[in-house]
Amino acid sequence: MSDELDTSNLTPDLVLRARMALEVPKRMLAHIDRVVVLADELARRHGLDVERARLTAQGHDLVRAVDPAELLRRAEARGMAIDPVERDEPVILHGPIGALELAERFEVTDERVRFAIWWHTPGHPDYDGEAWAMFIADKVDPHKVKRWPALAEVRDLAQDSLEAAALRYLDLRAEEATARRWTVHPMATLTRNALLRKLGRGARD
Ligand SMILES: [Fe+2]
Ligand SMILES: [Fe+2]
Repeated sequence: MSDELDTSNLTPDLVLRARMALEVPKRMLAHIDRVVVLADELARRHGLDVERARLTAQGHDLVRAVDPAELLRRAEARGMAIDPVERDEPVILHGPIGALELAERFEVTDERVRFAIWWHTPGHPDYDGEAWAMFIADKVDPHKVKRWPALAEVRDLAQDSLEAAALRYLDLRAEEATARRWTVHPMATLTRNALLRKLGRGARD
C-alpha cells in the first residue's frame, strides 16, 4: 500500500489544505478554515460556484504569516510594481505573492481564483460573485467581528447582497483611515468608487 495521501475523492480545496498545512502556521490555518466555511455558506446562499469559492478561500492567506520584510523582498526579486502604500505596509503584498506562489508551487491555475486572491485585501472593481464571497468571508471571520464589532453590519448585509456588504466594509475602512490619518490603498479607492457607482452614490449638495 502506498504511503501517499489518496486525494482521489477530496475536493480541490481539501487537497490544497493538506499541502498548505505543511507550511502554514496552525493559527493561520484555523482562520482559513473559518473563511472556507463562511465562503461556502455565502456561495450557496447566492447561487454561486461553491467549489471555486471554497478553493479561493482556502488559498487566500497562503503567505499571510510570512514576515513582511520577506514579502517585500520576494516582490522586489520578481520586479513587481510596488505601490508606495505597499512599500510602507508590505503585509498587503501577501495577496499578490500568494496568488503567484499558488500557481508556481501548488498548481492552482484557475485565473479567477488567482485574481481574487491577488486583490483580496483591497478588493477589485472586476470581482465576480465567488471573489466577493471569499472577500466578505475573510472580513467577517467571527474572531475579527469580536475585535471590531462594526463588522457585524458587513456580515448581516452579506445575507442580501455581497456587493452592498463589500461597500459597507470599504466605507468602514475609509472612515477609519480618515480618522487615524492612514493612507488608503489605491485599489481600495477604485473598488469603493466602482461599487458606489453601481449601487448608488449619495447626492452632493
Ligand atoms: Fe489576507
Ligand atoms: Fe484572511
